[in-house]
Amino acid sequence: MTPAIPHPSNALCSRLNISLPIVQGGMTFGSDARLVAAVSEAGGLGTLGAFHYRTYDKVMEEVEKIRAATDKPFAVNVPFFEDNFELVEALATRGGVKTFALGGWFSEEVEALKREHSLTILVSVNSPTVARMVEERPIDVLIVQGNESGGANSHFTTRQLFDLISPTIDAPILLAGGQWDGADLMQALQLGAAGIQLGTRFFFCAESPLDASIKERILNFNSKRPLTTSLASVSSTLNMRFIQNKPFSQAQTTGLIQEVFQDKEKVFALSEAFYQEQDKPILLYAGAAIYRLKAIQSVADILGEIAGEYRALADLQAPQLGPVK
Ligand SMILES: Cc1cc2nc3c(=O)[nH]c(=O)nc-3n(C[C@H](O)[C@H](O)[C@H](O)COP(=O)(O)O)c2cc1C
Repeated sequence: MTPAIPHPSNALCSRLNISLPIVQGGMTFGSDARLVAAVSEAGGLGTLGAFHYRTYDKVMEEVEKIRAATDKPFAVNVPFFEDNFELVEALATRGGVKTFALGGWFSEEVEALKREHSLTILVSVNSPTVARMVEERPIDVLIVQGNESGGANSHFTTRQLFDLISPTIDAPILLAGGQWDGADLMQALQLGAAGIQLGTRFFFCAESPLDASIKERILNFNSKRPLTTSLASVSSTLNMRFIQNKPFSQAQTTGLIQEVFQDKEKVFALSEAFYQEQDKPILLYAGAAIYRLKAIQSVADILGEIAGEYRALADLQAPQLGPVK
């Protein structure tokens, strides 16, 4: 008998030391210590979005909170921006952080750091060109992030990216962008991906830092008619996905979106509204799958639901196909 080939999901779970092949993507403005710890504690991998904390000390404050809440592994996401290597180096050497999710980059310097400190490195890519830059490097996990995602910046859908990139990559691959439930996980694993990364579903869950009034408004709106999102070009190199609401249309007409994203300080100022009670809609990032939001669930409920749906599908006997005539 030929020995069974291990599924890439097994490699993912053992490399990351997690029990579910589900990763919470790092979210600037949307993933703090509470959310990250809840995901890791429930068996997935939580990822702290480091960009908006700005300094090593602020990132470490969150890291210490995560460590106080769970002894399970977690990652820190550092996107491709200036001073990125210095931050990763400080977190790895002084802060003892072991797992990094790098947004679109993996330099030789990080490679050396990985070797020296036995780091686990996840790299997210949004195009086959970016994937080519990392395919020779010893990454642990590749995340393919398609344009369905909240925080999207790709010409390709998640499925297209997987098709284009997977043939040349040995590392386990996570699908990110539009992933939501157990059927998505089943489909990802059947395609040969190792697991799924979710952002939007966790951005709107009970433990996320988004103010409860904003989560409720989105949920209530969705119960009347499905929410839609739109990809907006915020600069010559960056697209972001937003909920299509009045503030978004106005910001598009006035050019406010492009104006804000030219200046980091303005982006940070915009995010202040996320943490305050709101009685009106605000400009808000979300992935295309936001129409599937049916409740503000806890992290444990979300992961339990996905695992339950996956198991139910795994028990279904696939119908036999008739002959081709
Ligand atoms: C509010 C928000 C902020 C995000 N910020 C980042 C970020 O700072 N770095 C990054 O690599 N990805 C970021 N993402 C992308 C997520 O990590 C994740 O890959 C993506 O949301 C998955 O797609 P989904 O939103 O359809 O689930 C962000 C997503 C959202 C919704």
